[in-house]
Amino acid sequence: MQTRILSTKDSNTIAVAAEIIKSNGLVAIPTETVYGLGANGLSEEAVAKIFVAKGRPQDNPLILHVAQPRDIERFCRDIPKAAYALADAFWPGPLTMVLPVHPCVPKCTTAGLPTVGVRCPDNDVTRQIIALAGVPIAAPSANISGKPSTTTAEHVLHDHDGKLDLIVDGGPCRVGVESTIVDLTEARPRLLRPGGITPEQLIAVLGDLVVDKAVTAQIDKDEVVKAPGMKYKHYAPQSDVIIVSGSREKAAEYIHRHYKENDRVLCFEEELPLYSDCKPLAYGREGDVSTLSAGLFAALRELDDPGIGIVYARCPEGGGVAYAVQNRLKKAAAFRIVNAEVEV
Ligand code: TXA
Ligand code: MG
Repeated sequence: MQTRILSTKDSNTIAVAAEIIKSNGLVAIPTETVYGLGANGLSEEAVAKIFVAKGRPQDNPLILHVAQPRDIERFCRDIPKAAYALADAFWPGPLTMVLPVHPCVPKCTTAGLPTVGVRCPDNDVTRQIIALAGVPIAAPSANISGKPSTTTAEHVLHDHDGKLDLIVDGGPCRVGVESTIVDLTEARPRLLRPGGITPEQLIAVLGDLVVDKAVTAQIDKDEVVKAPGMKYKHYAPQSDVIIVSGSREKAAEYIHRHYKENDRVLCFEEELPLYSDCKPLAYGREGDVSTLSAGLFAALRELDDPGIGIVYARCPEGGGVAYAVQNRLKKAAAFRIVNAEVEV
């Protein structure tokens, strides 16, 4: 199959993409978070193609993308008031809500769960494609399973050339890490994955939030978890990633002590002068965390090279969007963190 690429600026993109979705083909869609590998979320035939192209385990459910907030009433049931409050506050935007699923959604989309993740993405063209197709678009991040997510059309082409009918090129993704996922099916709202909508923002609307264990720790493969995707290896380049925490100076001392030829350093722009002899790669500015979230996956992809030994990574501290960056980097590092203040 030839994979076409159309820009969001081309006048026929919406019509072409919607037609492919309606005929159960695969279309990579731009969103504000990451690119999605999209197909008709109500068609078992179409959804099966996503799992094949991505190499995704069948027990990992997909998020349904809707054109407008009120469409959740078509695909979910028993919708709590909190869902409407969150949609009012954050949609279109980088938030996915897990809600009880409506019987019209096939089991392959939800991996047989009684719930479904729904999200209204903040990309006009993508929402218009969904509206014109008349069906929700099921879309995981458009990377090959286990690899860093795709934040440009070039990343998608790299992973899926010849496997998709169309890539809609909307330029680099603004947020750069996947949506925040909040589960609203229990007595208390539960954060399953941090993202562009911060825990602080969720608490301001919900008044309460439990942070799922999968956010903060490595999950065993056999453990029963709320978000099945959390137990799989994620975001990892081929080399080992080690996060080095601590002050700028102590971290640089630690890294220089351990650095060997073929290793790399993933750091903040402000730190580049400290690592001029260690082939440093900056993924954004520590002073502006949104540049770190926007640049993280492109940097991890650049470091996905079998010739690299160890990647020593610097991670932003604190809450807000930094919390999501920490989560992705820790997963890429399989939670290997050294504290340069105490370890030599
Ligand atoms: O920003 C995003 O959310 C991107 C863009 C394309 O929208 N999508 C995305 O999809 O990150 P994916 O499949 O890569 O990650 C979705 C995560 C998986 O970990 C999956 O297990 C979890 O959401 N998930 C999906 N449906 C769920 C459900 N009903 N209950 C719990 N977790 C669910
Ligand atoms: Mg993903």
